[in-house]
Amino acid sequence: MLGLLQGRRVLVAACGSIAAVKTPLIVSALVQAGAQVRCVVTASAARLVSPVALATLSRQPCLQDVDQWDPARPRPLHIELAEWADLVVVAPLSATTLSRWVRGDGDGLLASLLLACECPVLAAPAMNTAMWKHAGVRRNWGLLQDDPRVLPLAPGDGLLACDRIGTGRMADPGRIELAAASALLQADSQGQLKSDWRGRHLLISAGPTLEPLDSVRFLSNHSSGRMGVLLAQAAHLRGATVDLVHGPLQLPQSWLEGLQCHSVIGSAEMDQALQDLQPKADAVVMCAAVADVQRTSTNGVKKLPKERLIASMQDGWQLVPDLLHGLASRRPAGQVLLGFAALAGPDEQLLELGRSKLRAKGCDLLMVNPIDRPGQGFDSSLNAGWLLGPGDRHQQCPLEDKLVLSHRLLDRLLELNQP
Ligand SMILES: Cc1cc2nc3c(=O)[nH]c(=O)nc-3n(C[C@H](O)[C@H](O)[C@H](O)COP(=O)(O)O)c2cc1C
Repeated sequence: MLGLLQGRRVLVAACGSIAAVKTPLIVSALVQAGAQVRCVVTASAARLVSPVALATLSRQPCLQDVDQWDPARPRPLHIELAEWADLVVVAPLSATTLSRWVRGDGDGLLASLLLACECPVLAAPAMNTAMWKHAGVRRNWGLLQDDPRVLPLAPGDGLLACDRIGTGRMADPGRIELAAASALLQADSQGQLKSDWRGRHLLISAGPTLEPLDSVRFLSNHSSGRMGVLLAQAAHLRGATVDLVHGPLQLPQSWLEGLQCHSVIGSAEMDQALQDLQPKADAVVMCAAVADVQRTSTNGVKKLPKERLIASMQDGWQLVPDLLHGLASRRPAGQVLLGFAALAGPDEQLLELGRSKLRAKGCDLLMVNPIDRPGQGFDSSLNAGWLLGPGDRHQQCPLEDKLVLSHRLLDRLLELNQP
């Protein structure tokens, strides 16, 4: 995903919230990902976060209201910045700036720049819970939801700086970076973002499952969960409600923000969670790498002495039930199902194997991804392969970031989920 930000022009703005202390982390992450970053702070933000820190991290002067009135400027600064940016990130967004923005009030550098810009804007508010619940703030936030150029990242729950536990925490910098990459990928020539999954419910499984060998050891695989979690986030950013059933993940915790997460360990637990959640889903993606075998019974299997391990692995094992096949056999009318098949071998063999799996499993689409090639597949940020189905259709997917592939897969699922 980091490659997606390379060379892109991102304007990062901070308002007067204590969450502005996290703005330097956002700037630093974007710069490390290769983006060109310029910073703007409101007068209140400048009292909470150091403009010098933002200037140093962005390698550019940090701009404030006073700079708008610099007689040496040949063009209005807010217009120059609005035209320069591919994306504006307002993090944190305060109640005051939100109110100015939706009312069309351009008083101040950030306020006027928000009215002037025609690129997408990522809005990440932060405030005390009572402020967030205030009717005026709710109304203003509601007005932003219908602006196709705005990507609203609602605040999450947690301990706030005012010592209250509740809603109001700004989205984590890691999620903001992910959302920024997604917005830059998604925006059309008018700066508009897709919200085509709004009103739809997506169920996704991700990551590995762990099957116990004894009470402390387990059998698993190298799946990090990256593909499934990025798919889940991409769908959520396009408006979907997402249930994510996941095994142990090797990913930043912030990537789970905004998703309805169901954490599981073993394949039986994953199977049960998927069965429970399947009926309300418009689309299901089986992306998890389920461990293939499990003990017939784990009751009373204490930690085995290592001398007995090999002997104990000779019997008492069975194949894990085929979760994808189970989902296909139970699915309600109109529900679209995408499976993943991690395969190894030459291209022709993979395609043939994939086609027979697609028929045998009974899903609409099957993403065949080779896992025996360096720099792609398991535990990598890139993926490639073939998207098979429906029927005999197949499309080659070039080596690309898993976030790019996620949006491509969401487009295809949507084509099949039209009423
Ligand atoms: C220490 C401190 C923390 C604040 N935290 C927030 C906050 O989290 N969210 C918010 O909307 N306002 C917060 N405020 C109030 C804003 O700073 C104030 O409304 C200001 O007018 C915002 O202006 P701006 O949007 O131009 O930065 C805080 C004020 C102070 C003094």
